[in-house]
Amino acid sequence: MSTPHNNASAGEIAEKVLLPGDPMRAKFIAENFLENAVCYNEVRGMYGFTGIYRGEKVSVQGTGMGMPSMHIYASELMQVYGAKKLIRVGTCGSFREGINLKDVIIAMASTTDSGMNKDRFGNISFAPTASFRLLKAAYDKAEELKVKAVVSNIFTSDKFYDDRGKEKNALLASYGVAAVDMETCELYTLAAKHGVDALTMLTVSDNLLTGEKCTAEERQTTFNDMIRVALEI
Ligand code: HPA
Repeated sequence: MSTPHNNASAGEIAEKVLLPGDPMRAKFIAENFLENAVCYNEVRGMYGFTGIYRGEKVSVQGTGMGMPSMHIYASELMQVYGAKKLIRVGTCGSFREGINLKDVIIAMASTTDSGMNKDRFGNISFAPTASFRLLKAAYDKAEELKVKAVVSNIFTSDKFYDDRGKEKNALLASYGVAAVDMETCELYTLAAKHGVDALTMLTVSDNLLTGEKCTAEERQTTFNDMIRVALEI
């Protein structure tokens, strides 16, 4: 068994998979959090590892950036490899007052400017939502570990460099949307299609209202807090 994008054989990927966008983060998580981690995929440098966390088999797979890339890796994990619990661990830009650098955002739902769900659903505007089970577990675990987590609707954008970005962010903030990523809408939609549990957790790396950015060190520390929450649920 393999796909054009993933060399893993049957049984090499766990039912629980963490999904960082950056494949080097997948390597970092495997090396720093998992025991006996084995790399099962190197195709296109999109690393995937399986190891053990507190006695449980867990995989971590890079997804790349943007919804089409997420579509490829998440579809294959769900459809071919039998993944049942998929947790995106990424970064985001925040644009709502009161959300600060290093906060963890748990995405309850995803709003998008992407055309992918227009193509799927036509005139129907599908609402991609998190798994309630995973969302509740993540929120409770974050409280227990004293990690500040904000549960919110997020914006999944098709463009990192958007001529109308400021305008879109301000409009969405006025409707309570907290932050922007580029993948969650497709992850949640695919999870609904395949009847599996998915959740996105994001650390705020850029404050798009003030222009502040996390330092590399801050990014790593807050990222580690979030990974710990993701691994524990
Ligand atoms: N836009 C989209 N995705 C992101 C950003 C951003 O500003 N920062 C981190 N992920």
